[in-house]
Amino acid sequence: MSFDEYAKTWDTEQRINRGKIIANEIWNSIGTDKNSTAMEFGCGTGLVSFNLYDKFETVTLIDSSKGMIDILNDKISKYEINNMTVHQIDLLDTDSFDMKFDVIYNSMVLHHIKDTFEIVNKLYQLLNKDGYLCIVDIDEEDGSFHKDFPDFDGHNGFNQDELKNILTSAGFCDVESNTFYYDEKNVEGEKINYSLFIITARKFAD
Ligand SMILES: C[S@@+](CC[C@H](N)C(=O)[O-])C[C@H]1O[C@@H](n2cnc3c(N)ncnc32)[C@H](O)[C@@H]1O
Repeated sequence: MSFDEYAKTWDTEQRINRGKIIANEIWNSIGTDKNSTAMEFGCGTGLVSFNLYDKFETVTLIDSSKGMIDILNDKISKYEINNMTVHQIDLLDTDSFDMKFDVIYNSMVLHHIKDTFEIVNKLYQLLNKDGYLCIVDIDEEDGSFHKDFPDFDGHNGFNQDELKNILTSAGFCDVESNTFYYDEKNVEGEKINYSLFIITARKFAD
């Protein structure tokens, strides 16, 4: 199944609650003010950004899935949010997206992207000087997390130190990480434990 098909049932109570906790962790990990611009990469239906949009001047939401973007646009209209802008693009497949942001965050996206350095480098290019990158993703696991996604061909979570080295080699400074969320997921009738980490990093160059 593709993300287009998952979109209609994406907003479960568990994901809505998790999105709030993730948004809170992102906000508490950065020191920025209300005049900042933010971008969420791989926003899905906006479960994280709906808890953050009022903390930024503007929030730009990017996702490659039309299904996810359709649900997101419905929610933006329903709740009359006027500082969110939505782009349906594959960030790795376009050179024409050249906006820059003070903060870029993403949640549960990087493990779906094969070439981690390529996406980290792309996000670096899209940040303003002194900008923050926040990555939330799954701690390294044995593959159980995606057992119910037969087409999954991404990463079985990440080793935080390895990912921090990738960020440093892309030019990021002040790279820090910690695990902040522990939960269980029902996969084919079996409960599997997983945890999420956040990595924050800054771009000090122009
Ligand atoms: C597991 S979902 C997470 C959605 C949301 N961040 C959340 O936490 O609910 C991953 C999302 O990343 C998007 N995505 C994956 N690769 C992408 C790319 N190269 N460009 C844009 N979006 C991408 C997918 O379409 C999907 O909506």
